[in-house]
Amino acid sequence: MKAIRGAITVDADSPEEIRKSVKELLDTLKNRNCLTDSQIICIMFSNTQDIRSYYPAKAGREAGYVSCALYSSVEPEIDGSLEKCIRVMILADTDRLPEHVYLKDAQNLRRDISHKLNIAIDGPAGSGKSTVAKIISEKFDILYLDTGAMYRACALACLHNGIDVKNQTAVGELLKKTEISVEYRDGLQVTKINGKDVSAEIRTPEISMSASAVSALKCVREEMVRIQRKIAETGSCVLDGRDIGTNVLPDAEYKFFLTASPEVRAERRLKENRLKGIEQSFEAVLNEIKQRDSQDMERTIAPLVKASDAVEIITDAMNAEEVADSIINYIQRKI
Ligand code: DC
Repeated sequence: MKAIRGAITVDADSPEEIRKSVKELLDTLKNRNCLTDSQIICIMFSNTQDIRSYYPAKAGREAGYVSCALYSSVEPEIDGSLEKCIRVMILADTDRLPEHVYLKDAQNLRRDISHKLNIAIDGPAGSGKSTVAKIISEKFDILYLDTGAMYRACALACLHNGIDVKNQTAVGELLKKTEISVEYRDGLQVTKINGKDVSAEIRTPEISMSASAVSALKCVREEMVRIQRKIAETGSCVLDGRDIGTNVLPDAEYKFFLTASPEVRAERRLKENRLKGIEQSFEAVLNEIKQRDSQDMERTIAPLVKASDAVEIITDAMNAEEVADSIINYIQRKI
């Protein structure tokens, strides 16, 4: 069992603000620690005396935390303490190292236990980003966000609704009524469209091409980047994509850019696809890789490009473990 700490400040002492802040804090803690509802044993809140309009425990229950014990109490009044602050301790049945979460003004409370490790990994299709990012997230026990999955989900939503992935207006309208979200189950990312798990469905060659096309649209990028930053701002994480170091997390402490020749990348993708039962010729995969490269590099908004402060790793002659080891060694030397 682990004890996980967190805190958030509320903008105003109103039931709406308290409900919103408690939900944000608990959902973030749950996601950051990859917890399922059944792993959460109890949630204990304390709040400063200037919070009088709503019980945090009640807000927690309303936010969907119904299968654990919830409790709230009021803290003593201490001179100079942070105002309108809700603190929480979660007891959870997990083996992972706890990731404590301090949001808004509460971020300054425990810098010692809430230091954030942000790692950005960018590169073209087939450069090995996702395998490497997964190894790194396991090594440091931090969250892994596969941002490509979110663009893939946008493309799938378009396909389901018969919408042309290049039609900015229609895609924008669709996005307004479609919720693309990411959750974690047993430490693995689950990508959802309107609450439905589409993690497997988005892994087809057709969706790869459509994701590349839809990701060029301003409305799509703005919305996806907003969600990605929100996830990243809450704690340590490794993100992979095309624009993480340049656009999503320009201040990330650690940035890497993976590359390999189109032929090597096509060979890797061919093998991955075979394992999934997708049969394609080498030439077809190579063509798709080249087409995606040019689409991703030549688009106007946040094109695929190495950030000036990213470490470039040419992976042609390396396997994923070797690439991950070199990144882990680099970070450990600097930390
Ligand atoms: O990494 P992937 O193959 O799953 O990504 C699918 C497409 O999504 C990719 O061709 C371009 C787009 N993408 C992007 O534009 N920005 C990101 N951060 C991640 C992916």
